[in-house]
Amino acid sequence: MTVRIPSVMLAGAAALAVAASLARATMPPPKPDASAAPKPLNQTGFPAKLYQWSIPADNPQTPAKVALGKALFFDDRLSVDNTVACANCHDPGKGFTDELPTSMGVHGKFGQRNAPTVLNSMFNIEQFWDGRAPTLEAQAEQPILNPVEMGMPDPRTVVNKVNSIAEYKAEFQRIFGEAPTYGDIVKAIAAYERTQLAFDSPFDRYMNGDPNAITAQQKRGWAIFNGQGRCMSCHGWNPTRPLFTDDRFHNIGVSAHSAQFVPHARAALALLGKGGGGALQIDQLAISSDMSDLGRFLVTKQPHDIGAFRTMDLRNLFLTEPYFHDGSQTTIWDTLDHYNKGGVQNPYLDGGIVPLGLSEAQEDDLAAFLLSLTSQPYMQQAQAEYARQFKISRTTRPQRDTAAAMGLKGRNGPGFAGPFGDIGPGQAAMQENPALLGGD
Ligand code: HEC
Ligand code: HEC
Repeated sequence: MTVRIPSVMLAGAAALAVAASLARATMPPPKPDASAAPKPLNQTGFPAKLYQWSIPADNPQTPAKVALGKALFFDDRLSVDNTVACANCHDPGKGFTDELPTSMGVHGKFGQRNAPTVLNSMFNIEQFWDGRAPTLEAQAEQPILNPVEMGMPDPRTVVNKVNSIAEYKAEFQRIFGEAPTYGDIVKAIAAYERTQLAFDSPFDRYMNGDPNAITAQQKRGWAIFNGQGRCMSCHGWNPTRPLFTDDRFHNIGVSAHSAQFVPHARAALALLGKGGGGALQIDQLAISSDMSDLGRFLVTKQPHDIGAFRTMDLRNLFLTEPYFHDGSQTTIWDTLDHYNKGGVQNPYLDGGIVPLGLSEAQEDDLAAFLLSLTSQPYMQQAQAEYARQFKISRTTRPQRDTAAAMGLKGRNGPGFAGPFGDIGPGQAAMQENPALLGGD
C-alpha cells in the first residue's frame, strides 16, 4: 500500500533538494581501505558476552559472508542509477558517517536526518533515530528502496540486478546455497556491519584499571557527566553494556525550534491511520517529509513520543559531527549549551531535561571527557576535530543562554511560558523532581 504525501509537506524538502542538486553532484562512493577492514575482538572494554548475545541465531558470522557484505556495502550498483552505495553516507574514513548535517542520496537529493555511524551499531536494541527497524537486517532493507537514498523501485529489481552480476551469483550460491534473495543480501550486509567494533578508548583503559589513561580534566568531566550534568541518567554506561545509551527515546527539545508538532502529528495520523503505516511508508515520512521531526511518534503513534529520538551512543563523537537527529549542531559545545539551558521547551519535553547551571569551564571538562571515548585507531583524527571545534567554541556559541542555564530566568520570567523544567536561583539541579516537571 502506498500513501501519497501531500505536496505542501514535501515542498520544503523538495526546494532544498533542487538547490542541492544544482550545487553539487553525487560523489562516487569511497574505495574500501584499511579503515573498512573488520575490527579485532580483543579490544580493551570490548563487551564479549554482549557481542555473543547480539549475533542473531539465523545469521552467524562467517568470513566469506562478511567479505560479501563488505563488497555490497561499497557497491553503488545497489542504487537505481549506480551512483550511491551505503558507503557514500557511511564512509569508514569518516567514522562511517558523511559528516554532513543531513545525507545526500541519488540525484543529489537530501533527506531530513543525520547519518549515524555504523560503528558499534550491532549493539543498538533498535535501529534508526526513531527505532523503526528492529535489526541491522531490517534496517538495510530500507535505504536501498528509499527514493532519496538509493532509489531502487522494489526488492525484486534489486535481486535481479545482483543476480545478473556473475561474481555475486556464485558467492550467494556458495554462502547461502541459493540464488540471491533480498533477505540474503541484507544478511550479508548486516554480517559485515557486525565487524565494525570500536572500543579500546582511553576511557576503556581507565575503567580497566589504568588511572593515568585519562587526564585530570577528563576525570573532572566524567564526574560532571555522572553528577551535575545528569548525562548518565540517559547515556548510561555499565560494564555489561558499555555503550552510553539507555536505548530509549526522549524528546530533548531538538526539533522544537521548528515546532509544528501538533499539526504534523494530526497529519501523520491521518496518513498512517492509528494502527498502521507499513515500514517503507514510515521510512519515507521519516527521511523526506516535514513530519520527520515527530521522531518516535511515527512508529508508535503515542503522543508522548512526539519529538522523541533515540539516545545515541557517545563513543567516537569527534568523528561523527555535526550532531543530533537533524545535524543541527556544529560542535559538541553547542550540544552542551543546548543541555545546559534546559533544552528548548515544548509540550513534550522530557522531564529529565532541566537547566544544569554548568560554568563554561565545566562544559570544557565535559567536552574533554567525551574525547576520551575515542577508539585508539581514530584518536589522531578526533584530536584534530576536537581542536577545530574548541577554536570555534571560543567565538561562536549560538546555543549559549547563561541566564537560563543558571536558573536566572524564573518560571514567570521572560521566555518561559510554562512549567517546563526551569530551576529557581540557588536550587541544585539534582533536587528537582522530574515527575513534577512534565514530559514523560
Ligand atoms: C543517502 C544516504 C544513506 C545511504 C545511501 C544509506 N544510509 Fe544508512 N543512514 C542514513 C541516515 C540519514 C540514517 C538515519 C535515518 C533515520 O534514523 O531516520 C541512516 C541510518 C543507518 C543505520 C542505523 C544506525 C543507528 O544508529 O540507528 C544503519 C545501521 C545504516 N544506516 C546502515 C546503512 C546501510 C547498510 C546502507 C546500505 C544498504 C545504508 N545505511 C545506506 C543515510 C544513508
Ligand atoms: C533525557 C535524556 C538525556 C539526557 C539527560 C542527556 N541526553 Fe544526550 N541525547 C539524548 C537523546 C534522546 C539524544 C538524541 C536527540 C535528538 O537528536 O533529537 C541525545 C543526543 C546527544 C548527543 C548527540 C549525539 C549524536 O550522535 O549526534 C550528544 C553529544 C549528547 N546527547 C550528549 C549528552 C551530554 C553530554 C549530556 C549531559 C550534559 C546528555 N547528553 C544528557 C538523551 C539525553
